[in-house]
Amino acid sequence: MVVTASAPGKLMLLGDHAVVYDHPCIVTAVDLRYSVSIEVTNNDEIKIKVPVHGIENNFSVKVEKIGTSNTKETSFVEAAISAIYKKYGVTKGLAVTTNGPKISYGLGSSSAVTVATVRALSQVFNLNLTSKEIFELSYQAVLDVQGKGSGFDVAAAVFGGTIYYAGKGKHIEPLQHEDIPLVICYSGEKVGTVNLVKQVYELKQRRPNIVDSVFEIMHRLVDRAREALLNSDWDTVGELANIHQGLLDALGVNAPKLSELVFSARKGGALGAKLSGAGGGDCIFALYSGNNKDMISSSLLKANGEIIDIKTGARGVYIASVS
Ligand code: MEV
Repeated sequence: MVVTASAPGKLMLLGDHAVVYDHPCIVTAVDLRYSVSIEVTNNDEIKIKVPVHGIENNFSVKVEKIGTSNTKETSFVEAAISAIYKKYGVTKGLAVTTNGPKISYGLGSSSAVTVATVRALSQVFNLNLTSKEIFELSYQAVLDVQGKGSGFDVAAAVFGGTIYYAGKGKHIEPLQHEDIPLVICYSGEKVGTVNLVKQVYELKQRRPNIVDSVFEIMHRLVDRAREALLNSDWDTVGELANIHQGLLDALGVNAPKLSELVFSARKGGALGAKLSGAGGGDCIFALYSGNNKDMISSSLLKANGEIIDIKTGARGVYIASVS
């Protein structure tokens, strides 16, 4: 029996970096999906295929050594298997295959793959894990690999939709809104999240009061945006996104290319635009109103941005097939 689970990526809307320090953020799941197929085998090995990264028949590890291979492409799958195996005392061999877009654009591939692995294993071994348990095991697995992270991306992959998230998962509130008028644009540049989180941590060590004040403003801004989002008040969400962009710049995580895209989107008529996530690269998003989506998109294309045409508010993890 092969079980396949599918989980969505994420787009951080507001609260980036502040959420690491337990302030809230708003995140939406995106339908850039990742799937993990798992079958139990009759040996003591775990074989993992990651075809998009050229790992076909060359990765296998003994069950007792799972999570120790130091292979970047399989690290999140391994950590997820290891978390489940440790907690539930499983010792079976597995054949695992992951699939998804080759380029992740910083839109949550690691968390999606982790969550899909945990969900598929829950099905394979009849663990009947609740969403909250899937979240907790997946978040632990992500921390095992990267050491840092607020878990908002894991929550988006588990629960889907658009959520208000805080306190490393203590507060997860679905915001019923599937249709946010967004243009998402990739900068073409990638920077590791962990380094940027560390950079902000160091700034906070040097200037605790100032950085805490910036986080406080972000917190207020996220709370106000939550209300605006629920009322589809896009003018307000846009204005708050612009202010937030300035605050991320203040934290030192903006980058010239991101600024160029943000200003291009605003020139094209966006209600607001900001970088999404850790900063340094990856994506920006812009809010459009009425029929100015195309104008914003062409302004971004002129600035050499890559428009990522994906839906927001995507469905959380689910079992896609059992065969
Ligand atoms: C990275 O996508 C978002 C950060 O807030 C880190 C995190 O929340 O884990 C910078």
